[in-house]
Amino acid sequence: MPGEPAWWQRGAIYQIYPRSFADADGDGVGDLAGIAARLDHIAELGAEAIWLSPFYRSPMADFGYDVADYRDVDPAFGTLEDFDRLVDAAHGRGIRVVVDWVPNHSSDRHEWFVESRASRDSPRRDWYVWRDGTPDGGPPNDWMSEFEAVGRAWTFDEATGQWYLHSFMAEQPDLNWDNPEVEAAMHDVLRFWLDRGVDGFRIDALQRLAHDPLLRSNAGAARRHDQDWETTHDRLRGIRRVVDEYEDRMIVGEVALLDLHRVISYLNSGDQLHLAHNFVFAELAWDAEAFRVSVEDFEALAVATAWPAWFLENHDLPRVATRFDEPSGLGAPRARAALLVLYALRGTPFVYQGQELGLPDAEIPPERVVDVDGRDPERAPLPWRPPSQAGPGAGFTTGEPWLPVVAGAEELNAETQAADRCSTLSLTRRLAALRRQTPALQTGSQRSVDAHPEVFAWLREDEGARLLAAVNFAAETVPVGLPAELGGPPRVLVSTDPARREGEVRLDALELAPGEGVLVAL
Ligand code: NOJ
Repeated sequence: MPGEPAWWQRGAIYQIYPRSFADADGDGVGDLAGIAARLDHIAELGAEAIWLSPFYRSPMADFGYDVADYRDVDPAFGTLEDFDRLVDAAHGRGIRVVVDWVPNHSSDRHEWFVESRASRDSPRRDWYVWRDGTPDGGPPNDWMSEFEAVGRAWTFDEATGQWYLHSFMAEQPDLNWDNPEVEAAMHDVLRFWLDRGVDGFRIDALQRLAHDPLLRSNAGAARRHDQDWETTHDRLRGIRRVVDEYEDRMIVGEVALLDLHRVISYLNSGDQLHLAHNFVFAELAWDAEAFRVSVEDFEALAVATAWPAWFLENHDLPRVATRFDEPSGLGAPRARAALLVLYALRGTPFVYQGQELGLPDAEIPPERVVDVDGRDPERAPLPWRPPSQAGPGAGFTTGEPWLPVVAGAEELNAETQAADRCSTLSLTRRLAALRRQTPALQTGSQRSVDAHPEVFAWLREDEGARLLAAVNFAAETVPVGLPAELGGPPRVLVSTDPARREGEVRLDALELAPGEGVLVAL
């Protein structure tokens, strides 16, 4: 890669789910002032940027992904002034700010939708997707909501006798991007936040931004008609042009498609996304071969100028410690190894709040379930301090947290882990620091090397530096299976296993503990 890497290529982007990060006013819900007060944590993690999940005015049917005003902060999170203060404080520390932009749908309480549903003649009727039903009274087609519990993607509106489309909840009507006024209004939303100084956007549900204009059913068709329609690319190019009116900004798309060719089609042309969230990778099983193939496939399909991004956790997916580790309470070796994978691969790591602590999902008793799609466990508040000292809110809140804190908060909290050199937090800080000071880890070339079948091993190289990363996916100790002549003298820079002594090793004698990952200088 010629020249200096861009900020969004250098190091990790840290995702904040504002409701659950830090609560400054004691109402049990996190807020922007809470984030501003915890910027030290992010700075010490060496994150290049934070990505904030939605904090806009919202009735919270989907906890902020149902936006009622794209240009204001919800009172639960603070005010626009709080937002400006947060951006200034982050920028003052060299941390960029990426915000979530939800273009596919608004809240049903957004004034646009209120006007749209008021009558068939409303000037805003066509800002959403309204259709007559079938002659027998059914919905216009067979499209289903992304959320199983919601069922059909259509809701009948008694007052005007038509159905409206919602790819998610009925409270999240899909905007009609076939209408140029909608496109222009949403572009202006981008400019509103760009003018306020944001460094980029995460685009929610990008694959939903265009569907078959004829609204044909999915059943019996060779491909889906409700998403990933060809016109999505033109719409994305329009978005990119707006962002490119400003200097050094970045867009990362949520491309929730399980076909890598389709994901990469949003990256390769150079005039669409800077980064794509790759769900093929995020949803892999814990399997060395699967990880190797997934990384190699990306490298093979992406053009040289397309830049990868890697994530394994976010606010919609079960956490890695719960997915991949044994619920034995003996730590979470695979969650630690997963962090090494993210920081040592060529591409931008996305780290979800709490992942740096190796948090598992929280247990949510049935009477406290609030999400329509079962995602409360990964959205539990971040434990900052031991509950024995800070009270049941674990330093997240002085009030009653909106969701229960994880069971292991007494040991897993940030304060306790910061004081422990062997903790997952200390490991994450070391990985981030190493990446920051090692150009080969940022922009060096990458190739996988043949190792033990249950070890995923790859080399990162640039002039003068050669690093080996290796992760044991097996449940037992295995030899890494690499020849001594790969280079050297090999020196372990980081191991995810606290029991290993760092320093010189012999590659042909190196064994990895279950779930252990190492970074070795050659
Ligand atoms: C993807 C977001 O990540 C998720 O949390 C949300 O429910 C849907 N898009 C709808 O906005």
